[in-house]
Amino acid sequence: MASSSAATLEDVPSMDLMTELLRRMKCASKPDKRLILIGPPGSGKGTQSPIIKDEFCLCHLATGDMLRAAVAAKTPLGVKAKEAMDKGQLVSDDLVVGIIDEAIKKPSCQKGFILDGFPRTVVQAQKLDEMLEKQGVKVDKVLNFAIDDAILEERITGRWIHPSSGRTYHTKFAPPKTPGVDDVTGEHLIQRKDDTAAVLKSRLDAFHKQTEPVISYYKQKGVVADLHAEKPPKEVTVEVEKVLS
Ligand code: AP5
Repeated sequence: MASSSAATLEDVPSMDLMTELLRRMKCASKPDKRLILIGPPGSGKGTQSPIIKDEFCLCHLATGDMLRAAVAAKTPLGVKAKEAMDKGQLVSDDLVVGIIDEAIKKPSCQKGFILDGFPRTVVQAQKLDEMLEKQGVKVDKVLNFAIDDAILEERITGRWIHPSSGRTYHTKFAPPKTPGVDDVTGEHLIQRKDDTAAVLKSRLDAFHKQTEPVISYYKQKGVVADLHAEKPPKEVTVEVEKVLS
């Protein structure tokens, strides 16, 4: 066993090994964090998550991305989730709770996690509390991406995505170097099926009715930090850093 992993390591370029070593040293000094990002569609959760993930060495668990991958792979989970997602409705609590319960136990979540798009109902929040209680930990902070609905249509309908990496662009606010093409790989960008003005209405409706009560749930626990999500991305990042420092 030892010789085969040594042989594998020999094949890794020294610079990559050094970069990984430095990353691990930096991560060892970071405190554990368990974060929830909550906000309506297009409020910037997916934009800020990779920055927070890198800074604090956390895993990024986005239930929307996980469900879209399941739909694309036509797994039993994906088949069950597709209809609700296409209509902009929430999928059932049982489906998403199961995904998160498994995911937070992975080694990549050892220093904590960023939950992006979960919990979205009070039942999901209660189930999450039960899962964490079993591990003897709790949610440290809930970042509330507060923003007026009126701003969101332009953000959602202008969004373009590189499916395999999850990189997000916007025709006006974060354009790629070449329209329709990923900056890094040169591959084509796509638009999400639910990123239309009509489906956005249902998604916002679900947010106000089912997800806003989750913010109140965590406010009672004193862990919510309100962000000004209407500001430009870099200014939102500064607010996030202040809250988490
Ligand atoms: P999900 O994938 O979670 O979608 P969402 O919550 O609607 O969030 P978005 O990904 O649309 O928005 P975002 O806040 O990440 O915005 P982004 O940063 O990309 O869920 C999809 C579906 O899955 C749900 O409808 C449901 O059916 C199902 N689902 C998922 N989780 C579930 C759960 N827990 N329970 C039940 N069902 C679940 O930004 C948007 C655009 O704006 C980008 O183009 C970006 O470049 C731009 N932008 C970002 N920030 C700024 C800024 N500050 N200024 C200007 N432009 C900006």
